[in-house]
Amino acid sequence: MSRFLTAALLLGQTFAYDTVLGFNSRPLVETRTIEEIYNAALKEGGTVTVWHGGDEKDQQDSLKSAFEERFPGMTLNITVDLSKYLDGEIDQQLYNNNVFVDSIILQTLQDFPRWQQEGALLNYAPVGFDKVYSAFKDSISASWYGYSIFFWSISWNTAKLPNIKNISSYSDLLKPEFKNKLVLTYPNDDDAVLFAFYQIMQQLGTKWFDDLLKQNPRWVRGTATPLTIVSGANYSQSATFTSFGGFNPGKNVNISFPNDAEFVTWPQTAAILKNAPHPESAKLFHNFLLSSDHQKTVPLSVRKDIDSSESPYRNIMNTPHTNPTTFAKFMSDRVTVERLRFYFENRLGSAQGLSPLIDDI
Ligand SMILES: *[C@@H]1O[C@H](CO)[C@@H](O)[C@H](O)[C@H]1NC(C)=O
Ligand SMILES: *[C@@H]1O[C@H](CO)[C@@H](O)[C@H](O)[C@H]1NC(C)=O
Ligand SMILES: *[C@@H]1O[C@H](CO)[C@@H](O)[C@H](O)[C@H]1NC(C)=O
Ligand SMILES: *[C@@H]1O[C@H](CO)[C@@H](O)[C@H](O)[C@H]1NC(C)=O
Repeated sequence: MSRFLTAALLLGQTFAYDTVLGFNSRPLVETRTIEEIYNAALKEGGTVTVWHGGDEKDQQDSLKSAFEERFPGMTLNITVDLSKYLDGEIDQQLYNNNVFVDSIILQTLQDFPRWQQEGALLNYAPVGFDKVYSAFKDSISASWYGYSIFFWSISWNTAKLPNIKNISSYSDLLKPEFKNKLVLTYPNDDDAVLFAFYQIMQQLGTKWFDDLLKQNPRWVRGTATPLTIVSGANYSQSATFTSFGGFNPGKNVNISFPNDAEFVTWPQTAAILKNAPHPESAKLFHNFLLSSDHQKTVPLSVRKDIDSSESPYRNIMNTPHTNPTTFAKFMSDRVTVERLRFYFENRLGSAQGLSPLIDDI
């Protein structure tokens, strides 16, 4: 009897301790059919509010239309803004106990373990969660997970650069034919671009950056801006390595992956807020995100069992010259991030020009 009581007390203590630390977190694992979740979402009102990191207002229009076409009657109320600003606004909603966003999808990967510890996220495993690579998810409580691998490739306009057959390395960009032809995002304005420069310079040193500056690149804000400029026939710049355009970035634009340094890939990460006003609608959206139908449409899937057919390597984990798990570690090391940010600010000056979210280029 006393042994039983002791055990019960210990269990009770463990429970309280775990709750404080956010470890009491066994997830709800979804077992309903998608139609059942859909019906629950419609009953809730049919709207899900999502904040998605990015740098163009219309960047997630295709995600919105794919979801709304799949689930008539549902509205994906999606806002795109810089992750580095959205995360602070989420913190304010949490501190003021005024959460009005249901689902967040951000590049600031360091926020998710912290929010999990704070008990801010819903511990919920959508269908397909078990298929996501464990490196991209909170395996224990299912509070967050990647939904698509984003990456910065080298991209160039073949019509503007008719003599370039391939760009196989970051060192290639130092060749005379790229003088005045490069357009790049300020590394001191976006941490994923900062990580790109960091990885290149770990391999090629500061000499590479000094030589890059001699090429007189055009520095811009936003990571979609370089691809817009590269693609546009009326701009003189024709190559970049700080934009994401998937594997088919559009007319006259070819991409390559460098062989002389690592390039950046990361799982863009999603979570449902625990106090989400529309939890069933958020669950529907997250089941959609991880579904095999949707995962087949993203350039690089986070699921082990989905073949990313557009990728020459089929699978993110088999892709050479990149490690998709390193970005989260970099983002958690805020001391290094700040030191690097000021290194580049000192060399380039602070980011000039309006954010493309305010005024398109
Ligand atoms: C859509 O989301 C915004 C926040 O991004 C929110 O202010 C607005 O109320 C939402 N609209 C609806 C209809 O829920
Ligand atoms: C661009 O890519 C296409 C499709 O992969 C390929 O057929 C073409 O040869 C490439 N062009 C150049 C100039 O590399
Ligand atoms: C371009 O160079 C990269 C890096 O060496 C290589 O992986 C790729 O196969 C090359 N592409 C073509 C079309 O030769
Ligand atoms: C290039 O063309 C686009 C689309 O027509 C336009 O929005 C942009 O202002 C033009 N840029 C320049 C530098 O002329």
